[in-house]
Amino acid sequence: MSNYRVLLLESVHPNAKEKLSSYGFDVEPLADALSGKELAERLKGVHVVGIRSKTQITAEVLEGADSLMAIGAFCIGTNQIDLAAATARGVAVFNAPFSNTRSVAELVLSEVVMLSRQLGDRSAQMHQGQWRKTARSSYEVRGKVLGVIGYGHIGRQVGVLAEAFGMQVLYHDVVGKLPMGNNAPSVSMDALLAESDFVTLHVPETVQTKGMFGAPEIKRMKKGAALLNASRGTVVDIPALAEALKNGHLSGAAVDVFPVEPKQNISDEFHSELQGIANVVLTPHIGGSTIEAQENIGTEVGEAVSRFLATGSTMGAVNFPHLDLPPSEGKYRVTHVHENVPGVMRHVNRVVSEAGVNVGAQVLGTHETVGYVLMDVDRPLPPKVIQDLEAVDHTIRVRTPLGGPPVG
Ligand code: NAI
Repeated sequence: MSNYRVLLLESVHPNAKEKLSSYGFDVEPLADALSGKELAERLKGVHVVGIRSKTQITAEVLEGADSLMAIGAFCIGTNQIDLAAATARGVAVFNAPFSNTRSVAELVLSEVVMLSRQLGDRSAQMHQGQWRKTARSSYEVRGKVLGVIGYGHIGRQVGVLAEAFGMQVLYHDVVGKLPMGNNAPSVSMDALLAESDFVTLHVPETVQTKGMFGAPEIKRMKKGAALLNASRGTVVDIPALAEALKNGHLSGAAVDVFPVEPKQNISDEFHSELQGIANVVLTPHIGGSTIEAQENIGTEVGEAVSRFLATGSTMGAVNFPHLDLPPSEGKYRVTHVHENVPGVMRHVNRVVSEAGVNVGAQVLGTHETVGYVLMDVDRPLPPKVIQDLEAVDHTIRVRTPLGGPPVG
């Protein structure tokens, strides 16, 4: 399979190269991001490009990338990629949204203790030469109630870690979720707010969650409780939070994400109504930023892309349906990407059956504008049959990943 060429940009973690090389692919790592003509030039003949957040994969870039089959986004977001254009060309895009789950959960738990002991303020005072030894307003977290809003990957990990500290965990989610350990679902968000000493937000950024935590929700929190947000900056109304901290309704807050965040480290200034308020821990969106998360991203995206090249599996893709079919002995795999319109499968199956080829397994999935088929047949498809499959109306790409040369 070494005939697949992979270009890794932006110093993607070495785990990615290791994983892709273990499949026998030809991998070229580069330290920097590329753009413009240089990027277009380097992408010629490349089957997979691995990027982080800086390289912009626009429709124009995709247009010139004649051999490109997949993009590995070795990061969480995929805003730097024109997903619609990639999908229209049958290019699968992979990312690693959950590689930093544990990192965020650990940060949140440490902040619960920080807020309970006013550690941020004590440390800042010590740096200014002020020794303020006091037990005033300092509490253990054991026995306190932690309310988790959004009980997904991160919310559940937070719930598990909090119990190890002896906390009682309540959670609220719009979808029914099985509790971890002794975590308990709350009857409503209002009930959770009324009972929790700490409320931590772990919802995604959606139309529903935008501004979901404003003055009314803050008011419903217990007097003296603390709020933590390491989800998305648009979820919390920052001026309302600042007001509740200043008037003493809340005892503290830990905020990692902001409605507007600086693009550049150091050179871009950061401003927030929360600056200068006592017992407020502010961090520059570092919840998921750990060495372990970077390693996980390298391995996870490297593995997902490798499996895609080797078997056609699209598990972990953001713009394709998630399909997987274990390879079977003596079978030959064919993948077919097409526009998601009625009737394509009928023609695909007609071409295959007219060629006298027997289908051992077949799975179809659709995602928005694209349809994708994994199919195992009893013998290698002759070039003429592949051409006939490519000629089926609405076909985007045909490939024979197992054992054959790259097609399409
Ligand atoms: P997830 O998708 O696994 O979980 C989100 C949960 O929120 C789901 O269970 C969903 O049903 C629930 N939910 C959606 N709308 C809701 C609503 N209106 N009320 C209550 N629950 C609702 O996501 P994951 O991985 O746990 O991430 C959570 C958040 O953390 C996301 O916003 C993500 O962007 C953010 N994040 C922040 C990082 C940082 O560096 N601070 C790093 C990684 C993720």
